[in-house]
Amino acid sequence: MRFQDKVVWLTGASSGIGEALAYQFANEGAKLIISSRRIKELERVQQNIHGECLIIPIDITDSISLDNAVNHTIEHYGKIDVLVNNAGISQRSLAVDTQALVDRKIMEVNYFGTINITKKILPHMIKNGSGQIVVISSLVGKFGFPLRSAYAASKHALHGFFETLQLELKAYRDISITIICPGRIKTNISLNALNNDGSVYGKMDEGQDKGMSADICAQKIVTSIYQKKREVYIGGVDIVMVYLKRYLPSLFYWIARRINPT
Ligand SMILES: NC(=O)c1ccc[n+]([C@@H]2O[C@H](COP(=O)([O-])OP(=O)(O)OC[C@H]3O[C@@H](n4cnc5c(N)ncnc54)[C@H](OP(=O)(O)O)[C@@H]3O)[C@@H](O)[C@H]2O)c1
Repeated sequence: MRFQDKVVWLTGASSGIGEALAYQFANEGAKLIISSRRIKELERVQQNIHGECLIIPIDITDSISLDNAVNHTIEHYGKIDVLVNNAGISQRSLAVDTQALVDRKIMEVNYFGTINITKKILPHMIKNGSGQIVVISSLVGKFGFPLRSAYAASKHALHGFFETLQLELKAYRDISITIICPGRIKTNISLNALNNDGSVYGKMDEGQDKGMSADICAQKIVTSIYQKKREVYIGGVDIVMVYLKRYLPSLFYWIARRINPT
């Protein structure tokens, strides 16, 4: 019960990693707030949880609904101990073909939505003198990868923002930032990914299908959050690419050109 009575707000809790995190945190005694756009899916998740679990529907790109959601949550629980920024969408299209509206949409959800809710909750954590902000980035936040130009850009941008925040918060010893970088995890992310024109890709990629289970990923994430790690890589052999990019970049590019991106 490492999160007994801690108030944990999960975005993107209606499926995949977010849903698995909801169950892990509930098992650890947390009081949950679960958010995403699809209320029916959030209700399904809530029904699987025995402890406290408040549904706050949000579209992460809608700033006004975020204001209402934050006010409602603070009124209900009085504080937020852990914010897990998990909501996100991916992409399956070549950069050269991708329409600007798709680049913008992915940045709106993955980057602007995430920093927007973070900035609304951070002042409450500063007032309370404690809190933890978690961001689910990706290994693709550490290197570029084919068919994911906007997605990789949005995740790289998160690193710039949250690494800066880690430094700026040095005066607040009890407020921490944890950046999580999963590799391929078996969720609906490829089904929900966007094509070059903004239509939905709608396929379970082979690479996704062979990925780590969302439950194991969520277990590792919860432990990393508990340990207040600064940056964590979760996955299989794909993690090696982070170190190849850093120490043997020529080999990284040689391999990355040959990996099947779907
Ligand atoms: N699966 C992987 O291989 C992998 C690897 C690295 C990183 N990640 C990251 O992990 C996070 C979760 O992805 P997943 O794999 O669990 O995919 P997923 O099953 O497609 O889940 C995505 C979640 O984000 C929510 N969401 C999407 N757009 C939203 C919006 N505008 N407002 C609010 N919520 C929104 C979705 O809920 P609604 O549709 O109900 O709004 C859903 O709950 C993402 O940030 C993703 O980039 C995944």
